[in-house]
Amino acid sequence: MTFTVAIDGPAAAGKGTISKAVAARLGFAHLDTGLLYRAVGAQVLRGVDPEAAARALTAEDLEAEDLRRAAVAQEASKVAAIPAVRAALVEFQRAFARRVGGAVLDGRDIGTVICPEAEVKLFVTASPEVRARRRHAEQVAQGADDPYEIVLAEVRARDDRDMNRTDAPLKPAEDAVVLDTSDLSIEAAVARALEIIDMRRGQG
Ligand code: DC
Repeated sequence: MTFTVAIDGPAAAGKGTISKAVAARLGFAHLDTGLLYRAVGAQVLRGVDPEAAARALTAEDLEAEDLRRAAVAQEASKVAAIPAVRAALVEFQRAFARRVGGAVLDGRDIGTVICPEAEVKLFVTASPEVRARRRHAEQVAQGADDPYEIVLAEVRARDDRDMNRTDAPLKPAEDAVVLDTSDLSIEAAVARALEIIDMRRGQG
């Protein structure tokens, strides 16, 4: 059996947490596709050419320690606008989606470009202020001390770049279900995502 759940949305909307919880509940494999772009971004910060970095990417590169850094996130969003970088990463993602046993992929263009045939598509979003507040709280918990206003500016800069690039911009697929998590607890958001997926599986 193959069954693909595509979960897209902007930074810090809750995609990652929802994707992990959904994959665990369903027993599906999970791929955080943002890690691919972050791994390329991290290489570029070390002076490697973006396209060469994307072509040479391996699964082990996704486990590097420094991929969560804010500087890597911004660089990831920059390299993600380069068509040759995106093209080099397509097949890895599609192969993952076809895994027997089911797969959850989260990112920006899974429902629109990578897996337009996905059985379920969710677009998880929240207001920029709510997302910045969540990201800021995460960073404080990890000992970083950037003020909220800086985190909000970074969230907005990344949204702007991700939504306005020409190649595979961030947007909901026409057949995606939009899940706004601004006023939802993480538990409520996960429960709602599972409800939507269960409905689709029932129809399959
Ligand atoms: O989900 P994330 O914050 O880890 O993603 C980092 C950057 O990678 C994001 O700002 C844009 C890019 N990205 C993308 O263009 N397409 C994806 N499917 C996933 C991430």
